[in-house]
Amino acid sequence: MRHETFHYPTVQALKEEIDTLGVFMPLKEELSVLFTPQQVGSRTAANRIAFEPMEGTDGTADGAPGELTRRRYLRFAEAGPGLIWFEAVATLPEVRASAHQLWLTRDNVDAFRRLLDEIRETSLRRNGYAPLIVCQATNSGRYAKPTGVPAPRIAYHCPSLEDQPLPDSCILTDDELRGYEEAYQETARLCDEAGFDGIDVKCCHRYLASELLSAYTRKGAYGGSYENRTRFLKNCYRAARSGAGAGVFLTSRMNVYDGFPYPDGFGVRNDGSLEVDLTEPVRLIGELRQLFGIPLINVTMGNPYRNPHVNRPYDHGNYVPDEHPLEGVGRMMDGISRIQRAFPGLPVLGSGFTYPRQWAGLLAAGMVGGGHCAMAGFGRMAFAYPEFIHDLRERGALDASRVCVTCGGCAKLLRAGTPAGCVVRDREVYRL
Ligand SMILES: Cc1cc2nc3c(=O)[nH]c(=O)nc-3n(C[C@H](O)[C@H](O)[C@H](O)COP(=O)(O)O)c2cc1C
Repeated sequence: MRHETFHYPTVQALKEEIDTLGVFMPLKEELSVLFTPQQVGSRTAANRIAFEPMEGTDGTADGAPGELTRRRYLRFAEAGPGLIWFEAVATLPEVRASAHQLWLTRDNVDAFRRLLDEIRETSLRRNGYAPLIVCQATNSGRYAKPTGVPAPRIAYHCPSLEDQPLPDSCILTDDELRGYEEAYQETARLCDEAGFDGIDVKCCHRYLASELLSAYTRKGAYGGSYENRTRFLKNCYRAARSGAGAGVFLTSRMNVYDGFPYPDGFGVRNDGSLEVDLTEPVRLIGELRQLFGIPLINVTMGNPYRNPHVNRPYDHGNYVPDEHPLEGVGRMMDGISRIQRAFPGLPVLGSGFTYPRQWAGLLAAGMVGGGHCAMAGFGRMAFAYPEFIHDLRERGALDASRVCVTCGGCAKLLRAGTPAGCVVRDREVYRL
């Protein structure tokens, strides 16, 4: 099925398409709700807009932020989101997703601290407040590529993700998983020293902790039952809790739906269909809340390698999906809303707000204003047009000539292991 690229010159045109497709995309033209504060545990985010983690592949060989990393985050700081969810930062060198992925170590923790200080000072000067900053601590597992060559460390053979079965030697043993859990202790300690407000035990997009949630076919302590499949995540939390001081909160960016049929996916009905089933995600979030007091949860879906249309609906990509991009947005918004409704007292940060371009602010206001999530998270838009927050606040509208056009250029740069940014709106720096 081929769809026309974005063609909604008016809100009315977009609303008509939403109605025709019957997708869940609440829009609100009154945007002021986005500029109200949000409590996150004992801290306060100054507004309801968050920048999602966006890996820039621009760290130094030893994992420290590089010059382009600094440039990206200072642009983000100027823009004034209430929360910056710092990109994937590796817990160990062998599980980096690229030779330039950030990796927090005793030797480079000062460089992270300096960058965080600069982010806070920049935002304070420009906006009058500092953003909350969460570190996304990751183990790339299946997608480990520490020297630029794939070195997959997998939970189980997953036909939906493997054209050819990977060698059995790629399957992690239970002991190796225990070692990976322990690594979260040191990373969390360093996150605390660097000054992060919170630590995300990353559990999304089919990186290791996320992949283990669907390890139905795996034998041993980490596969099969719900308890076993969630063991790694919870043990990583325990390790992180023992490493970071009590003032630093723990949270996760979590896939509540992978978009693959059972037994290859989490959050899906077990009848072989692709229907969303949030029973286990809701149970897991409830447990994380009870066990570790998470003060917010970041909800996302899909896999950027196999079904990016689920993860980040687009107009231009490597394949034409079998659904309208607005159906992808609607699935994401519906999942976010259902999680928020299951946990009225837990702030949910929703993902995937970029696709509606100049109308994205209306979707954010519709979701937040309607109580479907507490905060709206933007990924690609933050690369293309970080200043969009000022335009929403001051003009009540976005500039259609500056928005992200969902061309996939930033993702191509990321996959190539080169610094990632917007090849359309920030062309002087980023080229394909
Ligand atoms: C270049 C690029 C880098 C990304 N890096 C990360 C990352 O480090 N961690 C993560 O959880 N998601 C990452 N994502 C996913 C985004 O955070 C976001 O979920 C996705 O782009 C959909 O949101 P959007 O529609 O606002 O762009 C990345 C996406 C892109 C395109």
